[in-house]
Amino acid sequence: MAEVNHPFFMAGQWSGEGKLVEKGLAYNEQISIAQIKPNLYLYTQTTQKQIENIPLHAETGYFRFNPNNGVVELLLSHPFGVCEIEEGVISQNNKLELNSKEIIRTSSAKEPFVTKVKRIFSLHDNTLSYDVYFATNTYDMKHYLHCDMKLKQ
Ligand code: HEM
Repeated sequence: MAEVNHPFFMAGQWSGEGKLVEKGLAYNEQISIAQIKPNLYLYTQTTQKQIENIPLHAETGYFRFNPNNGVVELLLSHPFGVCEIEEGVISQNNKLELNSKEIIRTSSAKEPFVTKVKRIFSLHDNTLSYDVYFATNTYDMKHYLHCDMKLKQ
């Protein structure tokens, strides 16, 4: 049977503004999601603190579509010594909700240790938005990030 190549509403190069919800810290963000094979996309993200333009978080990995059931798998590595695997599904062609399945860290990664992550991406009015929630070994799940991005021309 021929492999189904799932279309991905997040493919492309995006840039915009986000904030750490609790602290109100604003950042600029650029992401690139580029197809490298059927059902496989390379993902890179960089962020900078606004005004000073200091690099903040960055993350990189792959979005994989399971061709049998359309489940989206996200493999991610973070600069603070953490790798995670998230899985989820796309609904209505414009919403992706991912929940962490596995989280591992290097020996030098510092507390608080992230124990759970949830991400919700959605595309509406040509804007790609996401919300990130996480829990650690010292506090429960909280709404951490919100970001809105437009496709780069
Ligand atoms: C746009 C992406 C992100 C940005 C701009 C960002 C930025 C930051 C900043 C500025 C801090 C330091 C806050 C402080 O001074 O207290 C921080 C801490 C932290 N970040 Fe992020 N971060 C991002 C993504 C993530 C993600 C995806 C995770 C988890 C999966 C994460 C987990 C953490 C944790 C656990 C801390 C320590 C918090 C604490 O001390 O309680 N970050 N981040």
